[in-house]
Amino acid sequence: MNMKYASFAFSLLLWLGSLNYCKPEPRPIPELEKFVVKNVIHPSSNPYNPDKIELGKYLYFDPRLSLKQDTSCASCHNSELQNLNVGTPRNKIHNQISPKLTNVALYKDVFQDPHAKDLEDIVKDRLHSEIMLKNESVVLQRLSAIPKYRELFKKAFGSEEVTTERIVLALSAFERTIVSKNSRFDRFVMGDSNALTDAQKRGWEVFQNKAKCVQCHKGPNFSDSKPHAIGLSGVSDKMRTPTLRDVTRKKAFMHNGEFTSIEEAVDHFTRGGQAGATKDPLLKPSILSEEEKKDLIEFLRALEGETIQLEIPEIPKA
Ligand code: HEC
Ligand code: HEC
Repeated sequence: MNMKYASFAFSLLLWLGSLNYCKPEPRPIPELEKFVVKNVIHPSSNPYNPDKIELGKYLYFDPRLSLKQDTSCASCHNSELQNLNVGTPRNKIHNQISPKLTNVALYKDVFQDPHAKDLEDIVKDRLHSEIMLKNESVVLQRLSAIPKYRELFKKAFGSEEVTTERIVLALSAFERTIVSKNSRFDRFVMGDSNALTDAQKRGWEVFQNKAKCVQCHKGPNFSDSKPHAIGLSGVSDKMRTPTLRDVTRKKAFMHNGEFTSIEEAVDHFTRGGQAGATKDPLLKPSILSEEEKKDLIEFLRALEGETIQLEIPEIPKA
């Protein structure tokens, strides 16, 4: 890894983790975009390869991966791609709204499903049990019969063979490319002090000091990648801290979609969670003025990244 990024990454982590406000050193190159992308580690077991990513993109949108040919990964996880950000309503698999997969690669391999050890693992599980409905051979044969797929598999892996393993690698590699970047906050951190409005700067201070959100929402992805119980009524399960990047574009908040506005979601935390519900000791009420709450939300808006430019591919003809 390039030393400049390594040392910058380290100082940013320290900076985000510290509870004291300090003015960032102006930097000559506004390249946080690269910085975030550098944080996405394509592991040696599934190295970066544009052809594999291209294949993964087709597979992600192709309902023929499912036994009944009616569901693709994008059927549930499509919100960021079309910038709809509605999240799918509760789905048949889990009584949960589907999470955005933006920045999923930045969670340090801690997934909402605690049994998954890496991204490949969780993708494999979902693919096999929920999409192919354990009828892999039918689906693999179906895909092998499509000439364009044979060509794409050959380009990505060196031979035409269509296997579950390869599908998992390609889907995971593609997911690692869905990253929210170049937000106002990123530009601010890179030294452009005008990138944040005054309200956003005040909100960033509240986020770190008074409200101490940074205890859990820390680092470049605003997540400690750890599970916490946060005092939702009737929920004792711990959920992994989600990223706050792009959060203000969502229409439903928390894993169960309990809140429908960012204001309600933030209020929940400043209140210190529901009285009587199971919660992490880190979660304490903070006394904020209406002005400070507004600033805090303005700060969250500064975490909206560039619109993800992704053309939905036309899936290969049979
Ligand atoms: C029917 C809706 C649905 C479909 C189809 C679906 N998912 Fe999911 N996915 C979910 C829900 C809900 C969760 C969160 C609950 C969980 O982790 O079990 C999830 C979680 C995930 C996660 C973990 C996210 C995290 O932040 O921990 C990954 C990765 C993922 N899905 C990838 C995929 C891939 C790849 C496909 C296609 C093979 C797919 N999903 C198809 C609904 C779906
Ligand atoms: C104890 C750790 C912790 C602290 C402190 C904390 N959060 Fe969270 N936050 C979480 C977890 C865990 C979730 C996910 C809960 C769920 O999905 O049910 C979450 C979810 C959120 C969400 C909704 C995200 C989404 O995608 O739906 C917002 C917004 C949020 N937090 C903002 C804040 C703010 C603002 C503060 C400070 C006032 C704060 N959080 C403090 C752990 C924490």
